[in-house]
Amino acid sequence: MTIVVFDSGMGGLTVASALSRQWPDADLCYVADTEAFPYGAWDERKLIDRVCAVAGAVIGELDPRCFVVACNTASTVALDALRAGFATPFVGTVPAIKPAATLTRSAVIGVLATPATVAREYTQALVETYAYHCEVILHGCPGLAAMADAKMRGAAVDEDALRDEIAPVFVERNGRRTDVVVLGCTHYPLLLDEIERVAAWPVTFIDPADAIARRVAQIVGDRKPVSGNNTNEALVTSDDGLALAGAFLRFGFGSTRCFTP
Ligand code: DGL
Repeated sequence: MTIVVFDSGMGGLTVASALSRQWPDADLCYVADTEAFPYGAWDERKLIDRVCAVAGAVIGELDPRCFVVACNTASTVALDALRAGFATPFVGTVPAIKPAATLTRSAVIGVLATPATVAREYTQALVETYAYHCEVILHGCPGLAAMADAKMRGAAVDEDALRDEIAPVFVERNGRRTDVVVLGCTHYPLLLDEIERVAAWPVTFIDPADAIARRVAQIVGDRKPVSGNNTNEALVTSDDGLALAGAFLRFGFGSTRCFTP
């Protein structure tokens, strides 16, 4: 039995890394829905159906001990349907607005996420529940996930374009300015070095990957998913996804194969 880490593309690798740091010998399977990337462009109803179809096929084949939805865009809309449809334990990823509200000193928080995640009721509810006392700048980044994915495919990062993508969350008003920025898409930590370089000023960036890994540990308990085989593999849903095999290898996924949901 394995732990599945699922995303539309390469973003979930940031969560897979955190899981590997926690359990270096864990059996992990990475699933990238490359055929459907980017999820940020999908209509909500269709995305729920798509995520449930991919999850159902993966669960049917692997019967994982835990299924990590390492994607904010999918988690904020599809977690309820997944939990209703399958007995497998799911761990989701939603924008870390609650920890940001605890950390901020200026009470000005930025949230970088896909346009779809920013528009979700789920995200609005997180702000109203946990950060009602803060000014929260929710910014839907049109191209940031694709830039991160392209970087993993070997493309150079255009730092001017990157600066434009993140600039709106840096605000200064009445002597207070943004001091915490939530990375509300699992792709964004793949660009953290570059993001820090082009940020308007230094802030605390929140990458929730370690917190997600700790949540998985709570769910799995003592029944660690370790077979000793060390056969971590990656599944992609389109032929062009096979070109990502080199990147998967760098993250410890020794083989990549195509999978039809
Ligand atoms: N990694 C994703 C997220 O956390 C998705 C980006 C996309 O597919 O648009 O939101």
